[in-house]
Amino acid sequence: CGIVGYIGPRVAQDFLLEGLRRLEYRGYDSAGTATIDSKQKLNVTKSVGRIATLAQEIAAAPCPAGIGIGHTRWATHGAATLTNAHPHIGGAQNLAIAHNGVIENFAELRSKLKTEGYEFVSDTDSEVVAHLISQCVDRRRSLNGNKDDTQIAIESIKEAIAHLRGTFGLAIIFSHLPETIFAARLGSPLVIGVGEGEHFLASDAQPLIGYTDRIVYLADHQVAVLTANSLQVSHRDSGVVAHDVKELDVESNQVELKDYDHYMLKEIFEQPESLRNTMRGRLSEDMATAVFGGLNLTPQDLLKVKRIVFTACGTSWHSAMVGEYLIEEIAQIPVEVEYASELRYRNPPMDESTLIFAITQSGETADTLAALREMKRKGHPTMAICNVVGSSIAQEADGGIYLHAGPEIGVASTKAYSSQCLALTLLALYLGRLRHLSYNKGRAMIERIKEVPDLVEKALESNTKCREVAEKYKDCNNFLYLGRHYNFPTALEGALKLKEISYIHAEGYPAAEMKHGPIALVDEQTPSVFVMPHGFIYEKVMSNLEEIKARGGPVIAIAAEGDERIAEVADDVIYIPQTVEYLQPIVSAIPLQLLSYHIAVLRGCDVDKPRNLAKSVTVE
Ligand code: G6P
Repeated sequence: CGIVGYIGPRVAQDFLLEGLRRLEYRGYDSAGTATIDSKQKLNVTKSVGRIATLAQEIAAAPCPAGIGIGHTRWATHGAATLTNAHPHIGGAQNLAIAHNGVIENFAELRSKLKTEGYEFVSDTDSEVVAHLISQCVDRRRSLNGNKDDTQIAIESIKEAIAHLRGTFGLAIIFSHLPETIFAARLGSPLVIGVGEGEHFLASDAQPLIGYTDRIVYLADHQVAVLTANSLQVSHRDSGVVAHDVKELDVESNQVELKDYDHYMLKEIFEQPESLRNTMRGRLSEDMATAVFGGLNLTPQDLLKVKRIVFTACGTSWHSAMVGEYLIEEIAQIPVEVEYASELRYRNPPMDESTLIFAITQSGETADTLAALREMKRKGHPTMAICNVVGSSIAQEADGGIYLHAGPEIGVASTKAYSSQCLALTLLALYLGRLRHLSYNKGRAMIERIKEVPDLVEKALESNTKCREVAEKYKDCNNFLYLGRHYNFPTALEGALKLKEISYIHAEGYPAAEMKHGPIALVDEQTPSVFVMPHGFIYEKVMSNLEEIKARGGPVIAIAAEGDERIAEVADDVIYIPQTVEYLQPIVSAIPLQLLSYHIAVLRGCDVDKPRNLAKSVTVE
């Protein structure tokens, strides 16, 4: 879910709508805003579906106030309905809240509040927070009638959040305090933008781009009070604390669609550039290795590492698998790849020589953050491979590698994935050079790595062919994606891309393992996408391909330029430039991204905002 807030001389609703549009990647099943009108009444507008619908509602009955909060939702508790949309109202219409996160003890709090006379209109866990704060305010106002209203509000918020179990990022406004926004955070990020005579609030920095480049990250257990001209941050259990104002270095034109129909397509085509940015300044030809500024571990520390655990979700989990193959082969360090949602509750035996890497585009995925914290608690050094600078995971990790891929807006990850694979290749080179990898081999790797952006540029030339293939197979209801060795994680990623945006069932499998089950699915209507550029395993994959052909399944091959043999056996071939095996995941991913993009477009799907998904899942 996404939160925005504004206080200052602008019409708040304008910023709220623009900010919510930029946060739609965090969820988009319903949305709403709350402002305070000139009669000190809450003005709440909600809609089901996209922000565009909310914008129409607001246009029909605008409110010119300079204060407001807004929310875009990815449903957890309760369906995507108008009543479940945020902001939620507390008590006797005197406060509105927007909430991200999950309140775990909401059922218990809800029944208690109900017995105390509070009426609930929604099925959400969030409404509990609204009533709880309202109850605390009413109580404190009747006890301390002479106290300043702002002070009462702060104390009430602190009292209420102390009762909450779970996670929250909260934006709160009170109808009797039309010049103040309150914010509170525990485990769900909030960023404050500092402007000239205005303040902005958002659940990440995206909405602030182009409005201000001065930002304050709220920390867990902090409560912030924003007016047009002041910002005060305090700790839940103590008084006012100092806050650092940091600089945000993203330009607004990076989030514009330009001439592309969809962000996903734009981001696919940005990959030569995003990959250049990921490797920029990180290759040392003199020392035949990679260099990283942010790992915060000395070569001596890294030599003691006997095992690496990668933890991630979704597409990032696939790049983690690529990382496993890379680091085991190139650096000879045992690697394990764990779903973050599993690792956070497992208790795998790990000793002091285990190094943890959380891999995440957004740096906000709740499961990944929780797994990182659990590993940190156990005393392991934790690293992040992350795209979003200043995100929660980037801040909490002991060190890491930023991808510098630029903002990724499309829900289906493309350029962040290729940058993750590249960053992991650089990491493998670095760790390898600390161990047995020779100067010569290091130099040779650098030469190949430097070619990657150009190879990707060439792979993008397959776009027309991908569209043709998409036309031919767009009506199939099942796909298999098969590959071996470095191309196995690519097969998984190809299948995930197709599922996410075209809603076609697809399975990624190791090409040889397919005969132990999925081959039963093969028929004339079930195409198999073979990822098989040249490599030592090519002949073996070719045999697996024959097994599919023998059972009447159509085959689409992703193969190396110049491979004429494949054209004789496959029904369709999409050619990509050949490269060394350890770089194939980056190059082979390109036609798979394009293929799923075109299939989704041809099926009339909403490519950038597929149903049921969110780009950044900030709940467990
Ligand atoms: C969501 C997105 C996926 C993404 C995953 C992990 O499920 O829909 O595209 O791969 O989260 O996100 P992260 O930001 O941690 O890489």
